[in-house]
Amino acid sequence: MNFQDIAKVAEHAAREGGRVLEEWSKKFTVSEKRRADLVTEADFSSQTAIHTLLREKFPTHGFLGEEGLSAEGEDTDYRWIIDPLDGTGNYVHRFPYYGVSIALEYQSELVVGVVYDPNRDELFSATKGGGTTLNGQTISVSENDTLDQSMVMASLPVTPDPSNPAVARFLNVLPRAQSVQRTGSAALNLSNVAAGRLDGFWSTSLKPWDMAAGVLLVREAGGKVSKIDNSEFAVDAPDLLATNGLQLHQEIQQYLK
Ligand code: IPD
Ligand code: CA
Ligand code: CA
Repeated sequence: MNFQDIAKVAEHAAREGGRVLEEWSKKFTVSEKRRADLVTEADFSSQTAIHTLLREKFPTHGFLGEEGLSAEGEDTDYRWIIDPLDGTGNYVHRFPYYGVSIALEYQSELVVGVVYDPNRDELFSATKGGGTTLNGQTISVSENDTLDQSMVMASLPVTPDPSNPAVARFLNVLPRAQSVQRTGSAALNLSNVAAGRLDGFWSTSLKPWDMAAGVLLVREAGGKVSKIDNSEFAVDAPDLLATNGLQLHQEIQQYLK
């Protein structure tokens, strides 16, 4: 199966995850993994639905999912990275900004990325070298190249102490951008950078499942992803800066030091 065909399966699984989230939306209960880090039955059920579908098609692949899913496959070339509900805090408060994120690595490189937003029925999909689509239409990053003309977003740690360097970085960008937002779903933020609705996004506290799919969406839509010090992005490291790839990347980067 080529990566395009594999992406179709991932798209189906992401929609199925989204359906499960909506099914649970009127009956879920909330638990805390640690203070303010929430999880619901929807997170687990969505993960089970996605994993079941993918495992059926790709029984030899490896899997990494936020809700305790870690399985090394017989075929170690392939690893799926799944966030069955990115934006659980938003989901719990019924703030409609959350989604499902599914990525595939082949030989440690991101080759398929799919994010589904069930509230807007938006399916973002990318394959390595194949571009990024939103509901089947090709999308690309924005053209704003200065921070004072840009809307940018950050993900901060869940309950950061005011002395946390992530807070200092946020405050440093605040007066320089046209707008700085914090919205609670890294996967959707990256999708929106890919769609040109947002010019940049950074964080220093992400997990592989928050960003793997979104990173490919941004790259394939013509954007740039690096660590915040401009070195090469790594899915297993916690930080990233994703932008439209213009001069804006360097401009933001200098305020994140
Ligand atoms: C969270 C979101 C949020 C980020 C947090 C993540 P979750 O994911 O991606 O944007 O700031 O660090 O934990 O827990 O809702 O899947
Ligand atoms: Ca997440
Ligand atoms: Ca999650």
